[in-house]
Amino acid sequence: VNAHPVITLCMWSAQGLEMSVGKIPYLEAVNGSTVMLPCTYASCIGIKNLYFNWQFNDSGIMTKVCEAEIASEDVEPPVKIFRERVEFVGKNHKNNVSILLWNITFEDTGQYTCYGRNPKEKDRNHSVIFTLIVVDELKVADKTMTIIIASAVGGAIAFLIGFMLLKNFTLFVLAKLEEKNKECLVTSSGIDNTENGLSGSKADSKPTPKKK
Ligand SMILES: *[C@@H]1O[C@H](CO)[C@@H](O)[C@H](O)[C@H]1NC(C)=O
Ligand SMILES: *[C@@H]1O[C@H](CO)[C@@H](O)[C@H](O)[C@H]1NC(C)=O
Ligand SMILES: *[C@@H]1O[C@H](CO)[C@@H](O)[C@H](O)[C@H]1NC(C)=O
Ligand SMILES: *[C@@H]1O[C@H](CO)[C@@H](O)[C@H](O)[C@H]1NC(C)=O
Repeated sequence: VNAHPVITLCMWSAQGLEMSVGKIPYLEAVNGSTVMLPCTYASCIGIKNLYFNWQFNDSGIMTKVCEAEIASEDVEPPVKIFRERVEFVGKNHKNNVSILLWNITFEDTGQYTCYGRNPKEKDRNHSVIFTLIVVDELKVADKTMTIIIASAVGGAIAFLIGFMLLKNFTLFVLAKLEEKNKECLVTSSGIDNTENGLSGSKADSKPTPKKK
């Protein structure tokens, strides 16, 4: 099952190693909170001694946040950490090299680069940037967004309930119609062939276990 996406990836991606921070490459968070800087790697032919690091762009100067060499997939590497309040939470579980930034301050605002280099792929390297924005409090727009999302979820639930009620009602009507149809069938079969008295009684007895 897993082979298929890998093959597709190999066929379509121009370069082998790929670092990814997911669909949203930035995060806005309130100072004092704890955030995750997400990053995962992917490689067509697999990895061996993959080197990765996280770098922080400190007004033009790249400083290392942490680094490690990953011997192989799903083996937790020994990670060197150079910045305080940093924890390696990805643990290389499913190619996850995400880090946690504890108790963020305004100085943590900036660009974080997740870099990888795979010796198995002729030292092919790839990097991706994740931007952290530390704010005093979340903007009103975000609160509005939350309300919109909340009401959307509420709407979806209301819709589901409505849909289920409608479905139950439809089933009820269908059951009623079916009952009527059966009555018709029983009566008509009774009229059509008197020989089928047995099957007629069978038809009569059938709905009884259903009602239990
Ligand atoms: C955020 O920063 C402000 C200003 O430095 C500070 O007064 C406040 O206590 C901080 N908030 C948290 C949750 O640390
Ligand atoms: C984060 O802040 C809390 C509360 O101030 C403190 O207990 C904790 O040790 C801090 N964590 C780190 C990693 O600095
Ligand atoms: C990476 O690991 C962290 C910590 O366990 C988890 O919160 C996050 O969802 C993981 N990311 C992916 C893409 O699996
Ligand atoms: C990998 O990146 C370094 C810079 O970080 C560059 O000098 C080197 O040429 C790159 N290697 C390959 C194979 O692209």
